Amino acid sequence: MTPPRVLVVGSGIAGLITALHAVEHGCRVTLVTKDVLEHANTRFAQGGIAGVMFDDDRVEDHIRDTLIAGAGLGDPAAVRVLAEEGPARIRELVDLGVSFDRDPDGDFLKGLEAAHSYPRILHSGGDATGTAIEKALVARLRASEVDVIEHAFLVDLVVRDGRAAGVELLVGDGPDALGRRETLTGDAVVLATGGAGELYAYTTNPPVATGDGIAAALRAGVAVSDLEFFQFHPTIIGIGDAFLVSEAVRGEGATLVDERGRRFAFDAHPDGELAPRDVVARAIAYQMERQDGRPVFLDATHLRPTYEERADFLAHRFPTIDRAVRERGLDWAREPIPVTPAAHYLMGGVTTDLFGRTSLPGLYAVGEVARTGVHGANRLASNSLLEGAVFGARAGDTITADLASGMWPLVGATPHSVADPRTPSVGSGGGGGFGQAPDFTRDALQHLLWEDAGLVRDEAGLTHAASVIAAWRAAARTPHTEAEFEDENLLVVAERLVAAALARGESVGAHFRRDDFSVTAHRTAERDAALRAPRAI
Ligand code: SIN
Repeated sequence: MTPPRVLVVGSGIAGLITALHAVEHGCRVTLVTKDVLEHANTRFAQGGIAGVMFDDDRVEDHIRDTLIAGAGLGDPAAVRVLAEEGPARIRELVDLGVSFDRDPDGDFLKGLEAAHSYPRILHSGGDATGTAIEKALVARLRASEVDVIEHAFLVDLVVRDGRAAGVELLVGDGPDALGRRETLTGDAVVLATGGAGELYAYTTNPPVATGDGIAAALRAGVAVSDLEFFQFHPTIIGIGDAFLVSEAVRGEGATLVDERGRRFAFDAHPDGELAPRDVVARAIAYQMERQDGRPVFLDATHLRPTYEERADFLAHRFPTIDRAVRERGLDWAREPIPVTPAAHYLMGGVTTDLFGRTSLPGLYAVGEVARTGVHGANRLASNSLLEGAVFGARAGDTITADLASGMWPLVGATPHSVADPRTPSVGSGGGGGFGQAPDFTRDALQHLLWEDAGLVRDEAGLTHAASVIAAWRAAARTPHTEAEFEDENLLVVAERLVAAALARGESVGAHFRRDDFSVTAHRTAERDAALRAPRAI
């Protein structure tokens, strides 16, 4: 029997693990990626990977923490898979050559991050966990039988007879290159294209995060959900050159203070700086509003008694961040550093079941592009690398059997009718009363979403955003270069995100509607406290 041909699109942790597992199951795998293999979002992950790796931690507690952080909207079955299978995947990463930091006895060092009831975060190189994982997996992939095509941009999915049958690519070097069009056919296609941080003016994501997989899925009529849930990371330094300061820094005891030096995070939540990420990011945004937009400060100046000890601790525990802080002319061992929130992670995406299967037979989605249900309305810190590893492995392990059985379970919503891939939409539900839209540029889109569909939203802003996006979508453009295709993808995802945010009138998790008067920041805290009460799920 000819081995099945599997096309994996994307080279972060989820794509790489899927490819390695599928090859183990006898598939012929081709992995395509729009830049070079290493340039995925994975390598920017700092804090680490969460998992129940210590005898005094419990899977039930990781499940509970994940569901609470997700504001009760996580899928308990998916979260259980994540927590139960996480440790095996972390051990697999160790076997593949990832060297997590250990103490002198050889035991893993424990890291704490917000909303975890136990310090279950493993890290590598202090704060370079994603880089260590990406490096090890890429090395293993290059030594495997997986074929690799770099600088190959996903233009669209090929759908034949109601199945994913391949991918249409733009192959060329660089965002402005015209490239050449190529079609690759396969028995199964795996989207591992990551998120869409480029939707926002301020983001922790690299430029490759342009929602390509979600947009291609939408154009093919594949079910997508939860796009209103976009996570903002609370602590970023720099504006034009945003750099994430890991939550692990707060896990080590750093605090958030206003411009007068007062700690304010406890005003919003009893867990203060270690409350779920959405709560802390909003608390910072509100404090900034009170300060006429000026940043708040992350204070690490009490972490060790003397300046020398602090400088030494910060440089060793957080070498990457320490370098970035100092490159920006700041000395965080001596004084608090200014921080602001920025767009970080898309919880929603292509709807999948527990094996990465989507609503289109033959199409899988893994990693940030997928909506597996584990994150609910707000992702728990350091669950993203874990999700990529767990669900990537599940998809890679199941493709051969799925193809042999010819069965495909019903996943997600019923697929809507397939639209002409480039047909502009006629609007997404908002739209009334808007006059002349500004000219479309990526920058204009990013600022529109930051202002109108960001950390704090309301009907008027979302309606305005929907109108402008509808006008931009209606003005037909024919993309030629990779950057132009990316722009169209961002518009497609933005339109759906804004429509989803308009449709969800209530505040929950990362989706906060200031015009939902039934919930205030304090009510959110009460809800979290109530959810925290039962110990077992
Ligand atoms: C961080 O290190 O704060 C980011 C980790 C994550 O996004 O889970």
